[in-house]
Amino acid sequence: EEGAETLAVFFVQPVDSNRSVIRGVVDGSPRGAERLTVLHHHNERLSKLREIVEREAQAAPQPAPLEPVIERVSPELAELPEMTAHGRKATIRVTVARKWMAADGIAAFELRPIKGLLPTFQPGAHIDVHMPNGLIRQYSITNGPGESDSYVIGVKLERDSKGGSRCMHETLRAGDVLAISEPRNNFPLRRDAEKTIFVAGGIGATPLIAMAQALKNQSLDFAFHYFAQNQAQLAFPEKTALLGEALKPQLGLDPEGTAAKLKDILSGYRPGMHVYLCGPGPMLEAARRIAAEVGWPETAVHFEYFKNTNTIDDSSSFEVALARSCVTFKVPAGRTILDVMREVGIDMPSSCEQGACGTCLATVIEGEPDHQDVYLNDAERKSGTKIMTCVSRAKSARLVLDL
Ligand code: FES
Repeated sequence: EEGAETLAVFFVQPVDSNRSVIRGVVDGSPRGAERLTVLHHHNERLSKLREIVEREAQAAPQPAPLEPVIERVSPELAELPEMTAHGRKATIRVTVARKWMAADGIAAFELRPIKGLLPTFQPGAHIDVHMPNGLIRQYSITNGPGESDSYVIGVKLERDSKGGSRCMHETLRAGDVLAISEPRNNFPLRRDAEKTIFVAGGIGATPLIAMAQALKNQSLDFAFHYFAQNQAQLAFPEKTALLGEALKPQLGLDPEGTAAKLKDILSGYRPGMHVYLCGPGPMLEAARRIAAEVGWPETAVHFEYFKNTNTIDDSSSFEVALARSCVTFKVPAGRTILDVMREVGIDMPSSCEQGACGTCLATVIEGEPDHQDVYLNDAERKSGTKIMTCVSRAKSARLVLDL
């Protein structure tokens, strides 16, 4: 816009006889939101170029196969500076050691550190993956106990992908370098339950697979109900096979059938039982409602949404005071608490920035939060003592946070 210029260098890299990858490197300036806009711009242009080239290629005669030459990643890459985008830090460099299809429409990636060891993590943890196209996405680590050499993640190709899952599926390949965050766990597993029930829907199985392997390893009692349309959609069969009889695939059910099955699974609550839910929004809503109806206390129902599909109302404006930092600022309509907080120099960790993951949680000391996230449960919302600063706002004129 207005004559702004960015230096961008594009490399065309042949992959095989009929496929090449175009990679772009954009110079250091601009930074922040402007940089993201520039990356999105090039991403859009390259996607259009790809469509044209693919159309033309279909009409052209097929060339003879090429023998791929794989070059190892140079160790200097491990020294690249830390990446930070809006306070979301990617301190770890990994290579894609292996990429394979873990189920129909689900690609799996084994990520190995370029140097040193990967940080340890607890079952249920996720990492932020900073993609070559500038997008940042969260993926759960599926590793079982003792698997600490690499992280294995699963990525579903979303039909309405905004570029994240498509980039992972179509662009990334073995040998590529990625920047990732340290693992965070906002979906912790209790190991003192008398019985644990896992309810997984589609790609929602990934954090639960890590949890189930941990319980299996300790010979604790659990059942793993895995909802999918068919057998081919059950991800990581080599991992779930190890769960033995605890694995209970629930295949080909429509919404009514799913609700009936959930009722069946969730009836018979006894104190000491815990249920962990992860899957598509409507399935989670149904499971939470049914759990409440059949007598599960909220404290025993744990859930994780992939995304926040609520329509965010950001029309309010209010004042926020950070008690420990002695800072007060105004949050105008159209901006988030997190945004303004960063602008005044408070570094707050965040990950999904859409109210789903729980990373940006703050304690409310005074004032009434206007919850717009899908992370907190109903009791936590009613208590008014917690807030997700990336999407939630205030109903009162002023909020005081313990930050
Ligand atoms: S950053 Fe994920 S809930 Fe706010």
